[in-house]
Amino acid sequence: MSKDEGEKFDIIIKSNSRDLLAFMKLVPNRKKKIEKASSEPIKTDPMNELAKRLHPLRQYLVINEIRNETKSAKTFKLEPHVGLRTNELAYFRPGQYLSLKVKVNGVEITRPYSIASSPKDAQKGFYEITIRKEEHGFLTQYIWDNWKVDTVIESSGPEGFFYFEPLRDLKDIVGIAGGSGITPFRSMAKAIIEGIIDVKLTVLYGSSEEDDIIYYDEFKELEKKYPDKLKFIHILSCEEVSLEGCEAGFITAEIIEKYCDVKNSTFFVCGPQVMYDFVEKELERFKLPPKRIRREAFGEIKNIVNYPGFPKEVAEKTFKVKTHIGNITKEIPAMATESVLVAMERANLAPPSKCRSGECGFCRSLLISGDIFVSPISDWRRAADKKFNYFHPCYSYPVSDLEVKVPRHL
Ligand SMILES: Cc1cc2nc3c(=O)[nH]c(=O)nc-3n(C[C@H](O)[C@H](O)[C@H](O)COP(=O)(O)OP(=O)(O)OC[C@H]3O[C@@H](n4cnc5c(N)ncnc54)[C@H](O)[C@@H]3O)c2cc1C
Ligand code: FES
Repeated sequence: MSKDEGEKFDIIIKSNSRDLLAFMKLVPNRKKKIEKASSEPIKTDPMNELAKRLHPLRQYLVINEIRNETKSAKTFKLEPHVGLRTNELAYFRPGQYLSLKVKVNGVEITRPYSIASSPKDAQKGFYEITIRKEEHGFLTQYIWDNWKVDTVIESSGPEGFFYFEPLRDLKDIVGIAGGSGITPFRSMAKAIIEGIIDVKLTVLYGSSEEDDIIYYDEFKELEKKYPDKLKFIHILSCEEVSLEGCEAGFITAEIIEKYCDVKNSTFFVCGPQVMYDFVEKELERFKLPPKRIRREAFGEIKNIVNYPGFPKEVAEKTFKVKTHIGNITKEIPAMATESVLVAMERANLAPPSKCRSGECGFCRSLLISGDIFVSPISDWRRAADKKFNYFHPCYSYPVSDLEVKVPRHL
């Protein structure tokens, strides 16, 4: 092809022979490399080693520092417990969570907590999680009474899908948070200023009163330093609002439009169930494509009786669940208003779980017989699982006696 013809088609082939020569040298070059290589077998597979570091089965952490954030929220700085052979912390994507495994009064349970620090902090040797005490909370009450500096905690590796993905998400991120749902956005904000993710973040953070706002001063500082990258707006549902940067009321469509470029943003929503119910309706008004609204799993359903479709006539009943777990078979009681997972935890069978939201599939079990209620709003089972009676105990409620087979993970 002549140069002119090449320019006409925007393709210029400079040297056919050079390209061909490179191909011809491929085999002899490979042979030379093989001859030079050691004859010793490779003892470790570098890819497997990397996978293990990124996705450890478990990490042992030790509390290094505890800070009070509000009257009901504390930040725990966690470092690797080298004595228990956690030499480094797994790297993560801002927005992911850790599933903590804790023994409370002899009962082994898990709870997920979003990592509130940045991935660079993990490389430096610590994670931070911020926990809000729940009224009558099973684990949080225990944490307030028992956790102190030097307490050792067992954790999963980083889990979850609530993170910015450049191939899918727009570069303007709107975080809609309620209560302790602010934690993944602190991690994202830190990752943005450290140059790990290249986005602009606007956070609309709902709290019930000024004293409940977590990270208020820290966010004010960050916003002042990085006005082009970060913006935090506090929305308070109480009557009186005096703090700078606060709005009174709820996170309505009007508030969202006032502070965000709705058409050019991806929304990340994280908070309690009641906030999801409210915000979902407000976001519906913008008629955004589904991929533009990302939701964090919101954990256990608090009041299953109020969910559409729940058979109210069984609400007061307790059923029997014949549970096969590992080599053990045990018949346990299960209240209709508590998930099958909680029933197994109460019976101290230590069933596997991570997200407790029906999302991760870690608790996936076989329903041998009986009927369960799974809220249609959050039924993330695969079609094949439904067909062959696999279910997620964390999101399923007994409505008859059951027989189930539960995996025992390592
Ligand atoms: C992805 C994700 C991230 C999260 N991140 C954060 C975060 O950053 N910060 C934060 O504060 N929270 C976070 N949460 C919420 C957190 O996981 C807990 O739900 C919260 O701390 C409340 O825990 P709790 O045990 O005190 O209360 P609950 O979870 O409400 O505890 C009550 C539960 O314990 C069960 N129970 C009662 N008695 C027993 C018994 N004897 N044996 C077994 N079970 C029993 C009850 O049935 C009920 O289900 C997150 C949740 C999710 C899903
Ligand atoms: S624990 Fe994640 S699906 Fe049940």
